Amino acid sequence: MATKTGEGFSSSFGAIMAAAGSAVGLGNIWRFPYICGKYGGGAFLLVYIFFVIFIGMILMMSEFVIGRRTGEDPMKAYPKLMHHRPGWKFVGLAGLITCFLILAIYLVISGWTLNYFWESLTGTLAGIADGDFGTHFNEFASSVWRPVIFLVLFLVFTTIVIIGGVEKGIERVSKLLMPILVVLLLVLCVRSLTLEGASAGVAYLFQPDFSKLTGEGILAALGQALFSLSVGMGVMIVYGSYLPVDDNILKTSVWITVCDFAIAILSGIAIFPAVFACGQDPTGGPGLVYQVLPMVFNSLGGIGRLFSIVFFLLLALAALTSAISLLEALTQWLSSEKVGRTASAILMSAAVVLLAVAASLSFGDGIWSGFKLGGMQLFDLLDKLTGTILPPVCALMTILFFGWFMKKDDIIDELSNHGTVKIGYFNVFYYFLARFVAPLALLIVLISGLIN
Ligand code: PFF
Repeated sequence: MATKTGEGFSSSFGAIMAAAGSAVGLGNIWRFPYICGKYGGGAFLLVYIFFVIFIGMILMMSEFVIGRRTGEDPMKAYPKLMHHRPGWKFVGLAGLITCFLILAIYLVISGWTLNYFWESLTGTLAGIADGDFGTHFNEFASSVWRPVIFLVLFLVFTTIVIIGGVEKGIERVSKLLMPILVVLLLVLCVRSLTLEGASAGVAYLFQPDFSKLTGEGILAALGQALFSLSVGMGVMIVYGSYLPVDDNILKTSVWITVCDFAIAILSGIAIFPAVFACGQDPTGGPGLVYQVLPMVFNSLGGIGRLFSIVFFLLLALAALTSAISLLEALTQWLSSEKVGRTASAILMSAAVVLLAVAASLSFGDGIWSGFKLGGMQLFDLLDKLTGTILPPVCALMTILFFGWFMKKDDIIDELSNHGTVKIGYFNVFYYFLARFVAPLALLIVLISGLIN
């Protein structure tokens, strides 16, 4: 337990569950399958795997090193490693602002998910005719009260876990929810794969089509790799500060990455074969989960309702452990400013709920949809900022700091647990990947994305 407050994970297993809980979320189940299919299936997958291993995992290890070395929140960690030069705190600040914005939009979508879970339970979804799901979603998401009530409810669950503490709240909930999530997902996969005509969905997901892999697709693969692994914005610095002193950072990072990747692939297998088997179009964004899937569930008859309940529960639980990590990053910072943990969690929740409600009211035809910033509705602006722009920018600053400014001896000492663990991979990791491959790849993809 490296932090001043004595908060920390009790074991490497607990740390892996918590960090995998952060990584596995809406990004895996809701976003990955759709963009994988859209940008060329197997072709996209190859690029995605490259980014996950050579940028995402390298960043995760870097953040863990920074976090455990300092035992501080991101705003204090960077200056602490740079002889207290205060300018560096802006790198941490940029990450925390990004966390705040992601959490706001995450709450809106998680609120929708909770509503759909409720509507599956009560049978409302089962009573909707096939052609009406689009209207149902738009009317619901653009209305005033219902989305707000569910997003607040979701935030209340999140805040309660944070108030519970790192070990007794976050670690305990993650250890419970992650295995449940895997079981629910496997059940859905088996059902989806055994439907007649499922193979077209598997082909859509995996068959490489290099003609669909555009520059935009490559940028999407990078954005997705960072977002999905929760790296770049400092959340893994926060969890790194809670890592046990004897935790093997390489092994832990590999486990988290494998879990995250496996769940993304399994989500695709749970969703697309069913979509194709039921003769539906694999559309993207909110459409897939909230408009197409309910239709698929209804066409499965009585068992479909059960699958609908299971699916939306799965999505809500996955979103919960991710939202927890985002709120924890904000709470850790505020509580290190001598505000108690409970008060910090409540204050941060209160601040973020204002933005989340504004984003919800600005969605679709909502009552604030006329309010525009830079020509965009608030929800769309947040989506763009947090989906494609801010994470790569923050990630670039983090990896440049790690590769070019942080002391090499500190990194070696931390990765080797003070010389007790062999780190034969160090030269390749540090001199090749962290200093050159990761920053250059980030820079190239970012610049080409901005030009486009
Ligand atoms: N990794 C989460 C997902 O895939 O849904 C989202 C996320 C959580 C992004 C935490 C960033 C973060 F700091």
